[in-house]
Amino acid sequence: MKKFGIRGAVFDFVANPRQSSKAFRFFEDAIMVISDGRVESIAQTKECLDTFQEQYPILEYPGCFICPGFIDTHIHYAQTRIIGSPAPGLLEWLETYTFPEELRFSDPNHSAAVASQFFDELVSNGTTCAQVYPTVHENSTDLFFEEAHSRGLRMVAGKVLMDRHAPEGLLDGNDGGEAETERLIKKWHGKGRQSYSITLRFAATSTLKQMEVCRRLVQRYPDLLFHTHLAETLPENEWTMQLYPDCSDYLGVYEKFGVVSDHSVFAHCIHLSDSEKQRMADAGASIALCPTSNSFLGSGLVPLNQLDDYHIGLSLGTDVGGGTSFSMLKTMQEMYKIVSLGGDRNVDELDLFYLATLGGARTLKIEEHVGNLDIGKEADFVILDDGGQRLIRQRFEQSQSISEKLFALIILGDSLNIRETWSMGRCVYRRGVH
Ligand code: GUN
Ligand code: ZN
Repeated sequence: MKKFGIRGAVFDFVANPRQSSKAFRFFEDAIMVISDGRVESIAQTKECLDTFQEQYPILEYPGCFICPGFIDTHIHYAQTRIIGSPAPGLLEWLETYTFPEELRFSDPNHSAAVASQFFDELVSNGTTCAQVYPTVHENSTDLFFEEAHSRGLRMVAGKVLMDRHAPEGLLDGNDGGEAETERLIKKWHGKGRQSYSITLRFAATSTLKQMEVCRRLVQRYPDLLFHTHLAETLPENEWTMQLYPDCSDYLGVYEKFGVVSDHSVFAHCIHLSDSEKQRMADAGASIALCPTSNSFLGSGLVPLNQLDDYHIGLSLGTDVGGGTSFSMLKTMQEMYKIVSLGGDRNVDELDLFYLATLGGARTLKIEEHVGNLDIGKEADFVILDDGGQRLIRQRFEQSQSISEKLFALIILGDSLNIRETWSMGRCVYRRGVH
């Protein structure tokens, strides 16, 4: 189908709802026209139905919401099979489950099988785009991109750089992973919908020599994102300061090696000082908030409102397998609860849907392609409904406004509420069809 219409209740964002009262766009009954995989127009049904009907097929979704595909800005595909593995904290969890599982990705058959499972999970949760950690192995990254490319999904990823404090089989060689990274950049950055982010595990698993490799790569490829973890847990903060004693704080380590800029994305950022927050804001760096992971591993309560007050660009990541769900609805729900527990100003449903869509596209610097349903953008979208669940249906019926319905979807919803997922104008997931 080259050109067709999708009819339903359509919403998206043109700005951050915390910064603009006109950020939220909502059509109660609209037809979105898709042509050659892109959004051609969106118009109120009553104004266009008769003309459109004569020209091309209109797919009808009564009672459904249509919104941009979710963007998960921090997730580890190689941890798909260890999701939900218990540990007293991050560092123990890495040692006990994560490193042993990541070692298995030296086997290309394993990498290919998990990549395929990973994409099935993503699309069945309405996620059309993600920034992804493979493992240290060149092959695990190559096969990941191969699968994403063949499915036509927009992905951002990069081979993990690490050369100490992990099992031998997970450590980069003498050149600190530089040659492999460059080969992968040349092969994948800008190929179809794929882009490369220079991906460091975190400062604690790299030698000073490898941190210098990061500096060089970031200088050589200024258009690429730089992606790593920052200030997720207090023991990690303490350990990092022991390893880099000449730096005055954790962000200072990354600053020392020249990797903090408006193209850096830091996952977590729970335990930062005010000075670090200000410096992140000044640099234009972004944060992937990972609430289900933080609750599960007991990492802490991320101070979303404070980070927002500094005007740091924010988005949401599931952080699977530290995170406990591929569902961005569940991730929004956990974010809401964490802000509630923090006891100050709350986030609302519009803030959360923004973080999961346009906020993610801004973090990943791909707003020109995806993130909302602007004309000309790639037609990545999700069709949400009550999932046939009695409780949600009843909650919808009793709702007085779109806001109440969206809030109910966040608090009560999960993968069951994803009716269909579309990528570049193609249906890539339909509930109940395998
Ligand atoms: N910090 C360093 N590596 C990891 C990881 O794999 N998961 C999480 N959540 N934090 C990390
Ligand atoms: Zn992570």
